[in-house]
Amino acid sequence: MRSINILPPEVIAKIAAGEVIERPASVVKELLENSLDAGADRISVALEKSGKRLIRVADNGVGMSKEDLSLCIKRHATSKIYTLKDLFCVKTLGFRGEALPSIASVSKVKITSKPHDHLFGHKLVVEAGKDLYLEETGAPSGTTVEVRDLFFNVPARRKFLKSDRSELGYVMDVFIKIALAHLNVHFSLEHNNKLLLNLPATEDPISRFCLVFGEGLSESMKAGKKIGKDIFVAAYISDKTRRKSDRLFFYVNSRNIKDRLLLKTVLDACSERFVKGEYPQGMVFLNLNPKMVDVNVHPTKQEVRFQNESEVYGCVFECIKELFSFSRGKPSLKIQIQKKKEKDKDTVLKRDIASEKNAVSEEEKQYLISEFKLKKPHIIGQLRKTYIICEDEQGLVLIDQHAAHERILYEKLKNGFNSGEFSSVSQKLLEPYRIELSSEDTRNLNSKIDLLLNMGIEISHFGGNTFLITSFPPILKNINWDSFFSEILEENTEKIDSIEHLLKTMACHGAIKAGDLLSLEEMDALLKELYETELPYFCPHGRPVIKTISFQELEKMFKR
Ligand SMILES: Nc1ncnc2c1ncn2[C@@H]1O[C@H](COP(=O)(O)OP(=O)(O)O)[C@@H](O)[C@H]1O
Ligand SMILES: [Mg+2]
Repeated sequence: MRSINILPPEVIAKIAAGEVIERPASVVKELLENSLDAGADRISVALEKSGKRLIRVADNGVGMSKEDLSLCIKRHATSKIYTLKDLFCVKTLGFRGEALPSIASVSKVKITSKPHDHLFGHKLVVEAGKDLYLEETGAPSGTTVEVRDLFFNVPARRKFLKSDRSELGYVMDVFIKIALAHLNVHFSLEHNNKLLLNLPATEDPISRFCLVFGEGLSESMKAGKKIGKDIFVAAYISDKTRRKSDRLFFYVNSRNIKDRLLLKTVLDACSERFVKGEYPQGMVFLNLNPKMVDVNVHPTKQEVRFQNESEVYGCVFECIKELFSFSRGKPSLKIQIQKKKEKDKDTVLKRDIASEKNAVSEEEKQYLISEFKLKKPHIIGQLRKTYIICEDEQGLVLIDQHAAHERILYEKLKNGFNSGEFSSVSQKLLEPYRIELSSEDTRNLNSKIDLLLNMGIEISHFGGNTFLITSFPPILKNINWDSFFSEILEENTEKIDSIEHLLKTMACHGAIKAGDLLSLEEMDALLKELYETELPYFCPHGRPVIKTISFQELEKMFKR
């Protein structure tokens, strides 16, 4: 073995650079963050050959003096934290003092900078980490960093870069992620002298999102806010879904982060609204005291740790849940009544003074509820024993009978479970229903018997692999027990334990099916119940229940 030897500084620098600087996109990210930390409100990025040949980021921020310029490419030189204490409440995007030295060690860098109150600027030229010169120059206020020939001295790295097209894609990704969170800044992105994105400053997060991803989204975007104990959450989400979660962005104090649990929280909160495998798009901003987040988890600063996780995730869950408790773009009944109440507060208050005790009487409440209730359409008939065909003032209404019944059962089951009333309404069977399972399923079911009992389903182990169902809530009278058990037992246990999942499965197996012939009375009863539910437009799995073809669409269809 060779003897131990301390690595020369250039080698150390190159190793460290590998951690933060992986590709042109990483350079763009670091330079953009520096410009933002410098308080710029105009930042332009220009690339040549997807950034492989040139990356230029120009800002109108505070700029650097000659002294700062000579220091900024030294390792761990930063103006952003001074002491260890500062590390625990980072307010800037950068803080490690690593980016510029890392970039400079693997490329040819020119930094031109001038603070606002200086007459002249300075230019620093560095190649492969070595200062070539630092000289006075005329320059606009702010800083321009030019990075040429990235990895020119690290061929192994250069070889690992992907095609120009892919690398440009990565750059666009980081650029967009940052631009979405800094609305007060005018950003532009140019590639080979072609302007790709021009995002003027705005106050509206939705308009920036739509400027980037398409104006067609603006109608579908909803905003929600929630204030928790030490946290403020603002979400802007479109229900136009995608097959991937690639357009769902999360920010903690304006820093874009990756957090699987946050993504899961959002998806859970709208699981009733979307089919599995469909992802909404939009942005979720979390604002919390910097002391409550640790951003120093990873060199790329993309992961964070929350001090009070349950508060954070809980608040996000509530925010998204409320945002989606809108049906057909209208606020939920509860919110509307509350709004109406607020509007009427004045009049009510006056009446209150005139010695009425209740702010809103029972009668007024009924009026409000009926005013906002969705109107049950008129039934025309059943199509293919699957859809209920109706009409209302807007046009032709199609209702999926299975999905409708699923929604009704799910809400009843959920309410029954939450209020604990299942045990009292369960119906004893005259003759217990027998089910036979495999040994593995037997073990599985044995561990779930108590949970099912809470849902009003009483099962006893008869011996061997045989079980007897002795009672269950009457609304499940149509359930096919064999298929219900085969579904909940084949799933992984983690899922079975989720009560919501069990309730959804019960609703699905207990609901009438496509192919069931319904009489007019049965359809009428079904729709009455459907239009009483909280979210009639979607089944518990997020599939649509009601679809309307408007008269305009019909007229267009027939060229009237
Ligand atoms: N665009 C810029 N405008 C003004 N100052 C800058 C700019 N870019 C870098 N600097 C200065 O250089 C220092 C080092 O930058 P960097 O290596 O990215 O480390 P960090 O951002 O972690 O402090 C910063 O702390 C800042 O003082
Ligand atoms: Mg930085």
